[in-house]
Amino acid sequence: MNLDGRSVIVTGASKGIGRATAKMLADAGAHVCLAARSKARLETVAEEIKANGGNTLVVPTDVSDPKQVASMMKTTQDSLGGLDIMINNAGVGHWDWEGVVGGNLDMWTQEIEVNLLGLMYGTHYAAKLMQEQGKGDIVNIGSGSGRTTAHPWLGYVASKWGVRGFTEASLRDLRDDGIRVTHLIPGAVETPLQPEEDIESTQMLNPEDVADAILYAVSRPDHISINELMLIPSGRE
Ligand SMILES: NC(=O)c1ccc[n+]([C@@H]2O[C@H](COP(=O)([O-])OP(=O)(O)OC[C@H]3O[C@@H](n4cnc5c(N)ncnc54)[C@H](OP(=O)(O)O)[C@@H]3O)[C@@H](O)[C@H]2O)c1
Repeated sequence: MNLDGRSVIVTGASKGIGRATAKMLADAGAHVCLAARSKARLETVAEEIKANGGNTLVVPTDVSDPKQVASMMKTTQDSLGGLDIMINNAGVGHWDWEGVVGGNLDMWTQEIEVNLLGLMYGTHYAAKLMQEQGKGDIVNIGSGSGRTTAHPWLGYVASKWGVRGFTEASLRDLRDDGIRVTHLIPGAVETPLQPEEDIESTQMLNPEDVADAILYAVSRPDHISINELMLIPSGRE
């Protein structure tokens, strides 16, 4: 699958799924803007991409701040000549078994600000650029927690149900502008987001499995839109 010369932003590119996605898209020939808060970690990923002959740009960004997201778009447009693919991946999760009354309101706020509002800002500014170009791909990373109310981490569940609603509404709205929107829904993935004890006891996907699904979605022929893609561990050894 070939993304030769296409310009991409990956948020949350310093670790886990974002890092694997940035590297895989760069290997496919894309020019990748790496965004997250930690500049040092992004620079490590940029070195890994450059060592493989890839082209990349580091733009430290807190996605919960709309001004920083707007500035990231401008830097990408100025440096890479536009934006073809936006991957809204940055996310946080707090796994306390809390319930409604035991909920930590600061953590709920962070989960909504990063997972939902950050993704909405990214979609908004990316779509503005893509509308001018008449074409583009936006991939929003949801979660199995956006399809169930069985999980007790309520702030995370609320944020991912929000991602699902916003993404489905966006794909209808942007369809006539030539912008494809994909809701990518991973099950458990072995990344720093997961508690250590769960990694040891549960079958999980690799970050590269999710990156591969993202690459598949954005490299379909123009007449196909992958609206939703859910990946879960199969249970097979
Ligand atoms: N791992 C799973 O099992 C799983 C399952 C389903 C869905 N997901 C979703 O997949 C996405 C990536 O998760 P992951 O597992 O790869 O997590 P991860 O390894 O913890 O990586 C999260 C990334 O988000 C960045 N980030 C956090 N807050 C940010 C902010 N305010 N602004 C910009 N970047 C921020 C982090 O970098 P900095 O800290 O440097 O900012 C990091 O690069 C998330 O949306 C998550 O909800 C994960």
